[in-house]
Amino acid sequence: MRLSVTGCGYLGAVHAASMAELGHEVVGIDVDERKIADLSAGRAPFFEPGLPEILTSAGATGRLSFTTDPAAASGASVHFIAVGTPQKPGSNAADLTYVEAAIDGLLPHLRPGDLVAGKSTVPVGTAARLAAKVESVGAILAWNPEFLREGFAVKDTIEPDRLVYGIPAGENGVRAKALLDEVYATALSKDTPLVVTDYATAELVKVSANAFLATKISFINAMAEVAEATGADVTHLADAIGYDGRIGRRFLNAGVGFGGGCLPKDIRAFRARAEELGVGDSVSFLRDVDEINLRRRKRVLDIAHEELGELNGKRVAVLGLAFKPDSDDIRDSPALDVAVSLNGLGAHVVATDPEAIANSRAKHPQLVYAESTAEALEGADAVIIVTEWKEYRALDPVAVGEAVAGKVVIDGRNVLDAAAWRAAGWTYRGLGRP
Ligand code: UGA
Repeated sequence: MRLSVTGCGYLGAVHAASMAELGHEVVGIDVDERKIADLSAGRAPFFEPGLPEILTSAGATGRLSFTTDPAAASGASVHFIAVGTPQKPGSNAADLTYVEAAIDGLLPHLRPGDLVAGKSTVPVGTAARLAAKVESVGAILAWNPEFLREGFAVKDTIEPDRLVYGIPAGENGVRAKALLDEVYATALSKDTPLVVTDYATAELVKVSANAFLATKISFINAMAEVAEATGADVTHLADAIGYDGRIGRRFLNAGVGFGGGCLPKDIRAFRARAEELGVGDSVSFLRDVDEINLRRRKRVLDIAHEELGELNGKRVAVLGLAFKPDSDDIRDSPALDVAVSLNGLGAHVVATDPEAIANSRAKHPQLVYAESTAEALEGADAVIIVTEWKEYRALDPVAVGEAVAGKVVIDGRNVLDAAAWRAAGWTYRGLGRP
């Protein structure tokens, strides 16, 4: 099947390569020439485990190409829209400029009966509005949200845990479903659950899923705040409530909170859209979710103050810059935020990350970066773990103790063995842990 994918960022590049891996003939389109040059050469323009392998394996068989020319979409029967919908500057709402531009760019190249399948996260009501444009050239619009997680994006795309089609009523809907079924034939043959619904529900499924995940994280972080006031241990609490199958242990890791290009902006855009629709009260709790989340970053700074006193001139090793491990993405990263804030408070921050230094340096050239963990730890008065990369979780407190000047560790992700670090002479501070 011939497919086009407009937008080759974290979502689109993975989608294009994964669809080619599954046997489709795919062209990826993006306005960013550097990104297209990288992808055309089989290089992933960002860190995503498994992506380099499928870029070259699919490319090798000649099914995958990348271009900046929207005309290359001609001849494809399904056209995915995978561009970003960032937060609008100065507002909570989503910026739909790129979605509009992608659709406008595609229109001249669509044939009657082609399907445009939106994957971008959009405010509810967007698809219904865009459908008129797409239908004006005889094509059909579907909304087909994506649930991939960075770090697992290839696996999540090739083996999704569910598929959602938001389709129009009538004949167009029948054709849209048939085309999407053909795209996802491999996943459907493995009994992947499929929900076929209308546009508004498909759009809401995506934002409500992210709102739920954000709420779950902020719930446990709220419990961490209560634990801090009472001497309780939020990690034990999470284990204990997580054994209840109705609650579940996943996404109950208290720490410095959620970040990334999705959860923070999606809950804000959801609030903005709900307010427009006159149902702002229904999701007003998302403001608390956001505030709890941002408070946890501040808490790390407070603990640093408590342990180090005056921060001015203190050398602090910040381990982690990406918003989560196995990613180089620093969008709204709590880790980078903590590093920048500490630096702003006068601490001599030396920050490191296995993959996210280049992105961090481009955004915050004022920070001092160390290419290795050992270099970051050298002579530190305190060590702060803010992204739980495997290599940080595995640090040996005895060996690290020999490199640093002061044995204070702040575990912003609650991933270290507190007893082992204390036994090695460290002052250990977690979030929501005694
Ligand atoms: C999230 C959703 O999980 C995906 O399903 C969705 O497709 C994606 O957004 C999107 O909308 O595109 P992602 O942003 O890759 O995926 O990252 P998550 O794994 O959800 O983590 C988000 C943040 O929450 C990270 O900063 C992570 O460190 C934090 N987190 C996660 C916690 O603080 N505690 C937890 O228990 C889990």
